[in-house]
Amino acid sequence: MADKTAKLTFGDTELELPMHSPTVGPDVIDISKLYAEGKVFTFDPGFTSTAACDSTITYIDGGKGELLHRGYPIDQLAEKSHYLEVCYLLLYGNLPSAAELEEFESLVTNHTMIHEQMMFLFRGFRRDAHPMAIMNGVVGAMSAFYHDSTDIHDAHQREVASIRMIAKMPTIAAMAYKFTIGQPFVYPRNDLDYASNFLRMCFSVPCEDYQVNPILSRAMDRIFTLHADHEQNASTSTVRLASSSGANPFACIAAGIACLWGPAHGGANQACLEMLQEIGTVDRIPEYIARAKDKNDPFRLMGFGHRVYKNFDPRATVMKKSADEVLDLLGVENNPTLQVAKELEKQALADPYFAEKKLFPNVDFYSGIILNAMGFPTSMFTPIFALSRTVGWISQWKEMIADPKMKIGRPRQLYLGETMRDYIDIEKR
Ligand code: SDX
Repeated sequence: MADKTAKLTFGDTELELPMHSPTVGPDVIDISKLYAEGKVFTFDPGFTSTAACDSTITYIDGGKGELLHRGYPIDQLAEKSHYLEVCYLLLYGNLPSAAELEEFESLVTNHTMIHEQMMFLFRGFRRDAHPMAIMNGVVGAMSAFYHDSTDIHDAHQREVASIRMIAKMPTIAAMAYKFTIGQPFVYPRNDLDYASNFLRMCFSVPCEDYQVNPILSRAMDRIFTLHADHEQNASTSTVRLASSSGANPFACIAAGIACLWGPAHGGANQACLEMLQEIGTVDRIPEYIARAKDKNDPFRLMGFGHRVYKNFDPRATVMKKSADEVLDLLGVENNPTLQVAKELEKQALADPYFAEKKLFPNVDFYSGIILNAMGFPTSMFTPIFALSRTVGWISQWKEMIADPKMKIGRPRQLYLGETMRDYIDIEKR
């Protein structure tokens, strides 16, 4: 792939490093031979300037605020496509024909149940467990139930594991929710679409019929689509690194769930809604903006800022429009939290601090408002993010496993500790 080189000079060493050009985006300098040839490491905590892999799945232009899945812009997919079609696109590289889509949707629909014995895993948790803790445990345990799809070197088993993960995550997320509210589990139904099935598994009770609200299922499906994949974010990089050791796919997805839970990443949607509810009224916004700007205050505006986007997160733009639509259609006019969010966005974007640091609302800023209006508790926001991102983790996992360049990920370090020294017996310390 090298089509040009970079010269690196230090001390009396001069190296020529190959450079690779992408389809779109920045060139990369290939440093894989740097240590062998130059006996030096590069240093990049947080990987702010490091491409850890090559990929054909998702491209983000942070400056323009663009997000493409296999080349298709996220706003077009959110408007014209639906989650399972986006899953097909991410997994196989192109939009499906009608027949391919029908076959794929049937495959997913017919794998939504989980092994009946797994129910007892849920019962091992306290009822006040966070649903993410339950999901993490149950997904990690899947390798103990689905032995016939854990051999990562078998392409058919990789395919089976992929479909199982995408199909069963809504069931596991809904069961985690039901368990924490003390209600009976609801089995999936094959006559419902993916989003409607999830809503019914979460909100129906055995005592009465449940009719899915089409407005809510469309909004739910759009939220799934907006969270599906996002190139090499922290949880996807976690899944890739875990998979590089040859660990089974269920264990690797559980590692991704664990990483996503953090408030700097997927946990931000829960933290953002709790922040908006804590602010409560628009007159308290200046106090929180001042705190976010105060270097001595660890408080940050949750749902704001992004490692890559230095412009509007295109997903936030779609989510904001959807929040307006859903709340109006639900008759939740003048939702105080939505009013606070809109005024907070307006005041923050008018403030030089946020403008200079290019801090804009991200995907988590408005999603919680919609989920809250749909009836979900904040503790279910990140499980819904994990459910949606499973196809992204799985697609990136499949891409990496099939890559002949794949090897175990093993970063080095800048060591600042002690040089070698002899042990001191305790009586001499
Ligand atoms: C997701 O990577 C992905 O793609 C993630 C994601 C995905 O789909 O997978 O998009 C999903 O995780 C979205 C991000 C959700 N997190 C939040 O909303 C939490 C709040 N945001 C911040 O914690 C922060 O913006 C991060 C973690 C998102 C990004 O942090 P970076 O890239 O490491 O940036 P930084 O911490 O170095 O901040 C740069 C400057 C700093 O000020 P200085 O030290 O330069 O003076 O901006 C400031 C920060 O203090 N800053 C903020 C801020 N975010 C950054 N100040 C106030 N409020 C904020 N939210």
